[in-house]
Amino acid sequence: MTEIKGDIVVDQKTTMTTNNKVVLDGDNDKTVGEPFVENAKMSMRHVNVFYGEKQAIFDVNLDIASNQVVAMIGPSGCGKSTFLRCLNRMNDTISICRVDGKLFLEEQDINDKKMDVVPLRARVGMVFQKPNPFPKSIYDNVAYGPRIHGLADRRSDLDEIVETSLQKAGLWDEVKDRLHQPGIGLSGGQQQRLCIARTIAVSPEVILMDEPCSALDPIATAKIEELIDELSQNYTIAIVTHSMQQAARVSHRTAYFHLGKLIEVNETEKVFTNPDHSLTEAYITGRFG
Ligand SMILES: Nc1ncnc2c1ncn2[C@@H]1O[C@H](COP(=O)(O)OP(=O)(O)OP(=O)(O)O)[C@@H](O)[C@H]1O
Ligand SMILES: [Mg+2]
Repeated sequence: MTEIKGDIVVDQKTTMTTNNKVVLDGDNDKTVGEPFVENAKMSMRHVNVFYGEKQAIFDVNLDIASNQVVAMIGPSGCGKSTFLRCLNRMNDTISICRVDGKLFLEEQDINDKKMDVVPLRARVGMVFQKPNPFPKSIYDNVAYGPRIHGLADRRSDLDEIVETSLQKAGLWDEVKDRLHQPGIGLSGGQQQRLCIARTIAVSPEVILMDEPCSALDPIATAKIEELIDELSQNYTIAIVTHSMQQAARVSHRTAYFHLGKLIEVNETEKVFTNPDHSLTEAYITGRFG
């Protein structure tokens, strides 16, 4: 298949295709399914990631569709977090890490060394595994981003951003009377929703989530999952999860990684009921992972 994106041409010699559908002709570790979409918010091409000499991601090509949730699944160590961190240049913070390839946010190559990562990380926000509120009040946690990015001139504007962000994160009613108390005084699930509010406050276009519920109980998890569903109406979301049930509940498309390679991308329902690749099937049926 030959596809033109920006100034690069993707030529997947081993594939035959009609309408973005990729069919393999024997290679067992080339991506199968539908890695490309019409309405891509982000497009990754030939992404390879190295930690020193060790390669962690091998030639990944993937589109993330606008206003959809893509789930990234796969056995521990397969490269999910590494790949997710490429999407807002968080791997820059790891000195031995090198990311090669083209990563587009709409038409902009975000892997370009000239790219300013501060505005990029406002456009592509991130929520981590462990809730990590700043040691500040609930209000100041949410106001932090708008303040450093100069998004509010007046106090009343800032108040409004804080309130709407907390509302969108489903936390407003629980905290509106204690906005000036410390964020770390909240429960784990509330802290994670506070971190989501903090991310939303700078009006991101994409939200990356790396196992956002793994430190939460089932009730807090259900709230975050509900929230992801609501947020996907306005934001593009990429979520890494170890829970196949969670991937099935919250995502539209699912990407299965194995040993640093993107094995399969398809509609979530298809991945969990009728996967195209034997490795995906082995994982979802619990034969390894
Ligand atoms: N900072 C690092 N330095 C060196 N190697 C790393 C680093 N981070 C990850 N790796 C290696 O890269 C590979 C992919 O790791 P990564 O954390 O991306 O996997 P993962 O799929 O997110 O795993 P998990 O499900 O356990 O979180 C692994 O072999 C891991 O040991
Ligand atoms: Mg991980």
